[in-house]
Amino acid sequence: MAFPATRLRRLRQTGVLRGLVRETELSVAHLVYPMFVVAAGPRRTPIPELPGIDHLSIDGAVEEAGIAHALGIPAVLLFGLPASKDAEGSGAWDEEGVVQLATRAIKAAHPDLLVFTDLCLCEYTSHGHCGVLRADGVVDNDATLELLARTAVAQAEAGADAVAPSDMMDGRVGALRAALDDHGLTETPIVAYSAKYASAFYGPFRVAADSAPATGDRRGYQMDPANALEALREAKLDAEEGADVLMVKPALPYLDIIRRVKEATGMPVAAYNVSGEYAMLKAAAAQGLLDERAAVLEALTGIRRAGADIIITYHAKDVAQWL
Ligand code: PBG
Repeated sequence: MAFPATRLRRLRQTGVLRGLVRETELSVAHLVYPMFVVAAGPRRTPIPELPGIDHLSIDGAVEEAGIAHALGIPAVLLFGLPASKDAEGSGAWDEEGVVQLATRAIKAAHPDLLVFTDLCLCEYTSHGHCGVLRADGVVDNDATLELLARTAVAQAEAGADAVAPSDMMDGRVGALRAALDDHGLTETPIVAYSAKYASAFYGPFRVAADSAPATGDRRGYQMDPANALEALREAKLDAEEGADVLMVKPALPYLDIIRRVKEATGMPVAAYNVSGEYAMLKAAAAQGLLDERAAVLEALTGIRRAGADIIITYHAKDVAQWL
């Protein structure tokens, strides 16, 4: 029955009524907070490209993880900046590597906080690519799998509650699952960056993580922003290879992909609200162009409404305080 019998404004009259029929819930329980841990350096150094986010020493990371935990944030995602880099990225799987040390220290101090570890070589390779290079400069997919597998085992043995491969090599989820299982790490979930696009929105992160490729770009392994059906193929392959959570990244320009991956697989879906998305809102708010709190809550609600169960976001601490 149409107007005047039907008036959708009836249920919008008060906050209580709106709350009663709200379809999407944004709560801190769904948020993951990314952190940048530096092998050597001061406890905290502000990252200019990501206002409000710091480079952290191991002690600083333990402190920051404690703050996140106290705010009710269930999980952190660790990125590491090693003391030195090499062509293979050996710092990634070093038992005493920065992420392994930080994971052990955070789990010892805050055992109930989940520690997820980003699993990629780009922060550890001298050339900044996400895998080892062949003589012709192309990333060698199959040779990289072995190095990623070592890294997954080292991270899980350090106590990571989940590993999150962000390299976009073909077959890596299966290779990681097999390596983890071979080492008795059958209970460690894989949060796979399944549909990771070759995006301009990673700009601030690459400065923060010192992981920009020295030559070329990542379009030979990350996805073309124009493709959606291919994202579904990626997601299904990762699911078949044993991924526990499928991730779409970035989030806001790819809400359709979040929805389609959710509907096609029915699996838990994570969305990464990446550094450029964060920096844009921060910059606009700093200039007084929009209300930061309202804009952030609206953006993250949109990501949840699209179908994301988990949101990885630099806004996590602010959101936890606002909610
Ligand atoms: C590493 C990685 C990147 C991000 C997460 N893991 C950068 C990249 O692929 O170049 C980006 C995260 C962000 O922008 O917040 N492969």
